[in-house]
Amino acid sequence: MCGIIGYCGPRNATQILVEGLKRLEYRGYDSAGIAVGLNGSLKVIKTKGKIKELRQKIPGDMISSYGIGHTRWATHGVVNDINAHPHTDCSGNLAIVHNGIIENYESLKNMLESEGHIFHTDTDSEIIAHLIEKYFNDDLEKAVKEALPLLKGTYGIVCIHAKDPGRIVGARNGSPLVVGIGKDEMFLASDVTAIIAHTKKAVYLEDGEVVFIKPEDFITTDINDKKITKEIEQITWELQEIEKDGFPCFMEKEIMEQPESIKRAMSGRIDKELATAHLGGLNLSTKELINLERVKIIAAGTSFYAGMVGAYLLEAIPRIPAIPELASEVRYKNPIIEKNTLYFAVSQSGETIDTLFAMKELQRKGATVLGICNVVGSSIARDSDGGVYIHSGPEIAVASTKAFTSQITVFYLFSLLLARMRDLSFSAGEKLITDLISIPLKVENVLSRWQQLKEMAIKYAHYKDFLFLGRGVNYPVALEGALKLKEISYIHAEGYSSAEIKHGPIALINEETPSVFLVPDDELREKIISNIKEVKARKGKVIAISVEGDEEIKDIVDDVFEIPATHELFYPFIMVVPLQLFAYYCALELGRNVDQPRNLAKSVTVE
Ligand code: AGP
Ligand code: GLU
Repeated sequence: MCGIIGYCGPRNATQILVEGLKRLEYRGYDSAGIAVGLNGSLKVIKTKGKIKELRQKIPGDMISSYGIGHTRWATHGVVNDINAHPHTDCSGNLAIVHNGIIENYESLKNMLESEGHIFHTDTDSEIIAHLIEKYFNDDLEKAVKEALPLLKGTYGIVCIHAKDPGRIVGARNGSPLVVGIGKDEMFLASDVTAIIAHTKKAVYLEDGEVVFIKPEDFITTDINDKKITKEIEQITWELQEIEKDGFPCFMEKEIMEQPESIKRAMSGRIDKELATAHLGGLNLSTKELINLERVKIIAAGTSFYAGMVGAYLLEAIPRIPAIPELASEVRYKNPIIEKNTLYFAVSQSGETIDTLFAMKELQRKGATVLGICNVVGSSIARDSDGGVYIHSGPEIAVASTKAFTSQITVFYLFSLLLARMRDLSFSAGEKLITDLISIPLKVENVLSRWQQLKEMAIKYAHYKDFLFLGRGVNYPVALEGALKLKEISYIHAEGYSSAEIKHGPIALINEETPSVFLVPDDELREKIISNIKEVKARKGKVIAISVEGDEEIKDIVDDVFEIPATHELFYPFIMVVPLQLFAYYCALELGRNVDQPRNLAKSVTVE
């Protein structure tokens, strides 16, 4: 998910690599490094932290004609100097940088260690260097093509070898790579941002393609060495656009990449043979998991609403009592720690002080707390008793979107894992997996109809107050929809369980207070329709997020956005996306700073 650059040519590679990595900073990263060929060997400089720290470590005489660079967004292995890329092989003559996740790195590492390879890092990526070394026989490109078929997972890889100087080999499978064509110089990068200062001529690699570059030429083949002719394209984007992949802001980019980020949260964690899930890092035995009597979930903001969805899922699927609690409340309530209770601390940033200190208070009293975080090596991830990374990639916009759907993906996986240890049958587990795997495409379906939500937002953006109503597993989604609208458009919005509207909030209803109702085709649909009619009877405007084919609802409400049908427990994925886009387009209509709304911080590290 992070940044790569490679260069070969007559100019100073070190300077070009560092400048290129600087250009990639916008993607969010936690460490950086470069490797260059120097006097028949490789020189590797890498560090935890920012490009600034990297620059300070680079000696002034480190001048070379070829090299590679990387900004890391850690997925496997904490954030420290040694886990930063590039990684080298045992000989120290080969260096690689990698974007993505190698799912089978543990088995490959065991194999390579049994063959005498010595590893120095905790990352998944390092195995690539040793695997290429295993096949290297003076031809880097050939060795890469022999190693690639053994890798499972996603990669954009770029590598160099001191014994094969001046050449760079790249390979793509799931993480982007682009060749930049200069005058007697060549570039390889994860995106054109890193190279646009030098050339506007680009060749975009496809999955399964390998490229080898030297200053005057590049050759692309598939991994079976079959040559592939590639079209040289003209980069038309301006730099500013590229940083957001062509999107006008990070929030829209992150909303739109949810099919991919949800897939990444599932990647390598679904076991179809046993109809269950595998979550490394729980640090709990099967017996401990089976003997659990309850789960408690602590978080803040959007992560708290994801935790509320998680609680519904845990009670519905493995049938275990599950209680979501605001972290800020738990910390000071002198919490009672009950036996056989597992806590989850949910936090995208892994730095939210309310959640971090609540976790420490629970641990002080003997509780076991697992983290569900996005940022590897963050405080909550490091100080928890284990946990699961959501792998959604850097979330730059202050308003959390893709992290929410990735967090609930982890709760679905944990619920499946626990339920299959208990009473859930194989076939029921298979059905849940089928439903879960179908979600990215259904989210894609919703995203493709963004224009409809934009028009709806333009129609409603001038209202000053909104109610968001949902029931059951969609009640937290209503709360999240209200939060999204509040925090980026500054329009006042409140979320309620639909049935609660008659216990007071309906006093707010008039023609100036629209209500957004989540209307899944589940057993509570009729009750929700009744709530809608109570609002309509008082001239309240109603927007319904309802299921395709529900014709009745169209005659009752003012506006409808239809979503594809799914298993009732999976509607949170599909209901939240229209609410994210509705809030986003309202904010745009009102001219708000969508990525950095007023008064807000991406990570709230103060109480
Ligand atoms: C969500 O859009 C907000 N930015 C905020 O509520 C956020 O979810 C909350 O501060 C928790 O952050 P965390 O997930 O990083 O712990
Ligand atoms: N999985 C690799 C790591 O954790 C690469 C992460 C990235 O794409 O930056 O080091």
